[in-house]
Amino acid sequence: MHLLIPAAGSGSRMKAGKNKLLIELEGESLIYWTLKSILSSSSISWVGIIGQPKDKELLLNSVKNFSNQVKWINGGETRQESVFNGLNSLPKDAKKVLIHDGARCLINPELINKCAAELEKNEAVILATKVTDTIKIVDNKGFIKETPNRQYLWAAQTPQGFLVDSLKKAHKMAIDKNWIVTDDASLFEMLNWKVKIIEGNYSNIKVTSPIDLKIAKLFLKDSYT
Ligand code: C5P
Repeated sequence: MHLLIPAAGSGSRMKAGKNKLLIELEGESLIYWTLKSILSSSSISWVGIIGQPKDKELLLNSVKNFSNQVKWINGGETRQESVFNGLNSLPKDAKKVLIHDGARCLINPELINKCAAELEKNEAVILATKVTDTIKIVDNKGFIKETPNRQYLWAAQTPQGFLVDSLKKAHKMAIDKNWIVTDDASLFEMLNWKVKIIEGNYSNIKVTSPIDLKIAKLFLKDSYT
């Protein structure tokens, strides 16, 4: 199975002054831990890492000897553009692809394998967890408009997996129609194409702000010491 890692963000919410994937956690970069898990998943045979050209040297150096096991792909201005570049750089024989955000460094290899196995039976799959908070929809003046029934709410994670041809078609449609999305499953939903949920775990956080770094450090310490 092929896997693409979007890693071309600026990390502005982290306020680290550099790509957050270069931040060091337990002696290695954040992206190193993401890649380590991916490369130890038995289902993954090809990995593409999508980054900003200016970060290429730093990112590849920071993953050390894993760097010769990945293909470099230049990213775009948004995650959506980065993924589209990734899809266009897949080998011609790639039929199915998993997409996993570089920022989710606590993914475990078994969950990647589970997504790959479910993608053999479904056209599109995503890892997600049941929402435990009560979620409010709020208007632009800061007042609550609505409380959706929590029973039907799931928090989307990655990996997300798709048939390559279908995902490419969905991305092209998005460009034509100016759809802006923050994950790939959203494009399938907009087209009324089915996406299967796979229950993941709460530790697969997307490292976004400084508090997430503290959580990630604790988990990595627990797993590797
Ligand atoms: O910003 P956020 O954390 O939601 O980004 C999710 C993932 O998408 C990150 O791994 C980030 O590096 C990646 N990304 C990208 N290209 C962009 C913006 C974000 O590959 N232009």
